[in-house]
Amino acid sequence: MADQAFGLSRREFILGGTAVAASFGLGGALGHKARAADLVLPINRFDHELVPGRVTRAMMGFGLGGPAPVLRLRQGKPFTVDVVNNLDEASIVHWHGLRIANEMDGVPYLTQNPIEPGESFRYTFTPPDAGTFWYHPHCNTLEQMARGLTGIMVVEEAEDPGFDSDLAFNIRDFRLGGDGQFTQLFKPRQAARGGTLGTVSTVNWDTEPSYDVEAGTLVRLRLAVTDVTRVASYSVQGGESKVIALDSNPLAEPLPASDILLSPGQRADIALRVPDQEGDIVALTRQTAKGPKVLARLRVAGTSAKRSLSELKPLAANPVPEPDLQNAEVLEFVFGWTPEGGPPIQSICGTLGYTFWSINRVAWEGDTPDPIAPLAVMKRGRSYILRLRNETPNAHPIHLHGLSFKLLRSNKRALPPLVTDTALLLEEETMDVALVADNPGDWAFHCHVIEHQKTGLTGYLRVEA
Ligand code: C2O
Ligand code: CU
Ligand code: CU
Repeated sequence: MADQAFGLSRREFILGGTAVAASFGLGGALGHKARAADLVLPINRFDHELVPGRVTRAMMGFGLGGPAPVLRLRQGKPFTVDVVNNLDEASIVHWHGLRIANEMDGVPYLTQNPIEPGESFRYTFTPPDAGTFWYHPHCNTLEQMARGLTGIMVVEEAEDPGFDSDLAFNIRDFRLGGDGQFTQLFKPRQAARGGTLGTVSTVNWDTEPSYDVEAGTLVRLRLAVTDVTRVASYSVQGGESKVIALDSNPLAEPLPASDILLSPGQRADIALRVPDQEGDIVALTRQTAKGPKVLARLRVAGTSAKRSLSELKPLAANPVPEPDLQNAEVLEFVFGWTPEGGPPIQSICGTLGYTFWSINRVAWEGDTPDPIAPLAVMKRGRSYILRLRNETPNAHPIHLHGLSFKLLRSNKRALPPLVTDTALLLEEETMDVALVADNPGDWAFHCHVIEHQKTGLTGYLRVEA
């Protein structure tokens, strides 16, 4: 079964302390630490057969080969991971969507120094929220993510909702030529527009993988779009299914599992009731100009367990504080182009060599020990409305670290009262979102189309201690 080959066995292998650490050749480096981490997560360069019959060289991945392990944590339980950088360049790992202490957030200079080649960094945190999250580097981000460094992180609810099984889908493209090798990772003229799309679509580093699922069971499908660029709509076809959470926050009212609009960084949790008939197929598709494209298939096996979606316990809301809208201060952010001829971004953690974008007319200068001023300073415990104005004809998934916010309204469409960490702004859309500034620190705030992020569309918000 493909899902066992992916995730489980690999995770078991990488989990588990010093014996494994020794096999990565770091017994010495970690030996002095008081206790072993729950997980040793190496970052490596390796070759992998992404497209059948063609081995892609110089990929970057978490683990020893193949797609990143699905990390499984428990809500409210501490977790420790030693990230070991075996690349020949600096890296750093960010835990996307987790509301944890600032010094564990994994952003160069804002929260820690980059992890130099051959070094490791211990991240320790206790996830306050349950749901589907993901992890990725925040250093030389376009190249490291484009070469493979994106993984899913699952935080299990304190109370089991009652699924029979759980499948995580890491959805992303790679930019490969016909020979299966990486081609130019971005094109400047695209970076100045919607971003450069990949050429090969994958789920868990496989093109159109197929997974066996037991007939009549309840499956929790976790979709995470970890692509660097693509904004698209996804559907689950076959069986009975509904969206129960978006961006790791449960929906009060489930939505149909069709035309789910997801941008880079966004997630959807789907409750699927598998069909009864052995051999039937459930497909995950992405909408394209030519119609739906199949990304992955689930093949029904065995005799029906005859379960029903109504047997699932609704997911409890995450403990995100409710903003006080009466007394909230409004902070305005304008996402736009940058005037011609801005200075190329300087950074230890990678530069694309261009500046195209800005927030409040200021382009991010790159990750340096001496960053530009915060875009806003918020008082701890106060409520704020962030007015996000996209004055460009391109979509921008705007992501905030360390704090979750609630969608209030848009000038273009009706919004569900979603709690999220990433707001997709459509072209020329203005959206109001609200939050309580309860987590002190400097929190990165950027577009998750990585070419935009790395050519100016980045800043940070400060929550005073
Ligand atoms: Cu998932 Cu700063 O990013
Ligand atoms: Cu993040
Ligand atoms: Cu953008």
